[in-house]
Amino acid sequence: MSLNVVILAAGQGKRMHSNLPKVLHSVAGKPLVQHVVDTARSLSPVKLCIVYGHGGDTVRSALPATDIAWALQEPQLGTGHAVQQALPHLASDGITLVLYGDVPLIQADTLQRLLHAAADGLAVLTVELADPSGYGRIVRDAAGRVLRIVEQKDATPEEREIREINTGIMAIPTQRLAGWLAGLSNNNAQREYYLTDVIAAAVAEGVPVVAAHPQGEWEVLGVNSKVQLAELERIQQQRIASQLLESGVGLADPARIDVRGTLQCGRDVSIDVNCVFEGKVELADAVSIGPNCVLKNVRIGTGARVAAFSHLEDAVVGPDCVIGPYARLRPGAELGPEVHIGNFVEVKNSTIAAQSKANHLAYIGDARIGERVNVGAGTITCNYDGANKHLTVIEDDAFIGSDTQLVAPVTVGRGATLGAGTTLTKDAPADSLTVSRPKQMSLANWQRPVKTPKK
Ligand code: UD1
Ligand code: CA
Repeated sequence: MSLNVVILAAGQGKRMHSNLPKVLHSVAGKPLVQHVVDTARSLSPVKLCIVYGHGGDTVRSALPATDIAWALQEPQLGTGHAVQQALPHLASDGITLVLYGDVPLIQADTLQRLLHAAADGLAVLTVELADPSGYGRIVRDAAGRVLRIVEQKDATPEEREIREINTGIMAIPTQRLAGWLAGLSNNNAQREYYLTDVIAAAVAEGVPVVAAHPQGEWEVLGVNSKVQLAELERIQQQRIASQLLESGVGLADPARIDVRGTLQCGRDVSIDVNCVFEGKVELADAVSIGPNCVLKNVRIGTGARVAAFSHLEDAVVGPDCVIGPYARLRPGAELGPEVHIGNFVEVKNSTIAAQSKANHLAYIGDARIGERVNVGAGTITCNYDGANKHLTVIEDDAFIGSDTQLVAPVTVGRGATLGAGTTLTKDAPADSLTVSRPKQMSLANWQRPVKTPKK
């Protein structure tokens, strides 16, 4: 049986007070509508259509996928009118599932249940709310059968007492849909073509209408304001934290972690408070992350430790490395096993092989560093001449004295030692000491100046 999914996303989202279209605001690092698209795709629909309007091209270009059909709704005359715009893009048999682009946390298993409930007719996803105000109410007959949906603005005082509400998510038999939509009128309080009126049309034709329910209210919460966006962010972060804990990851405080992408963890991983994970992050077994770290698109090897206040982006960290506190790994930093990168050390576009150390205050950019190299405090690779970037090569077992500048392109040979304070402008030969600084001298008879007495 064919499944169509229609995602309604034409609304403006005035209450966001933003130039960004509402459905492109993010929860857990992903645009609202992308959450809905991903969930929809997991149901393997034959057609996936997004109804767009406000912020049209911005929304379209944010979702470049080729399996999405776009239906422009202009002007926006209501949810029924919106679905009508999608009709030409849909397979004509099977079921059409209507989702909202601003209801991001709806779960695939809930939708499966809804589709199952729609096997013989029409199914609508409903919840009972303590405060149903603003929503369409589910009107049932004495026997409990769903009769119709009445919008808040059209409801009688008695109908407003109903606490079962329409989440807006529905599964509708596609062959009947076109006819029902064509029959809608806008003779209501909002002068809109309500999708909700297809319920009464179905009942009138004897098509069974059933209600299904989500696991939790949170699944059907929508975003109309920054307040609601922040609420959904917290809900989603709590869910991610619970999943991590259940899979065995140690979190110092599940309320103080933010995952804005995918975080994949091995066994015995521990994560201290206030860490932010963005993009794709992989932590192997026994990795520990200290408090207040930011990791974006990084892979960290078994047993490595990242200490407090470190910032890592587009980097690879080998097993048993020790990073931080206060370390910065920028794009293209690739560390082998047991490398130490200490406080206020910045590494960019550089490989550092096994057991090498840069423990204090250094800049390593565009460098190839071998094994067991010691990079002293204050070492700088002068990689940029104002126009081009140049490579620094430091071979195995080299020792770079403190406060050294390596003016690239330059190579330090295997086992070489650079004296502290060296400004290296030519290659340093292997196994030798290279120093570039004036010889030290002392003046035995030198006198300190004395202060002239005030007159
Ligand atoms: C709608 C339902 C209401 C339900 C509520 C749940 C109708 C008539 N009412 O009300 O029963 O309780 O959702 O939140 O369906 N949209 C378009 N084009 C339009 C109008 C809306 O694409 O012309 C999209 C919006 O972007 C949004 C969704 O449809 O994603 C719902 O629109 P909204 O205006 O929020 O509907 P409500 O009036 O809240
Ligand atoms: Ca709404």
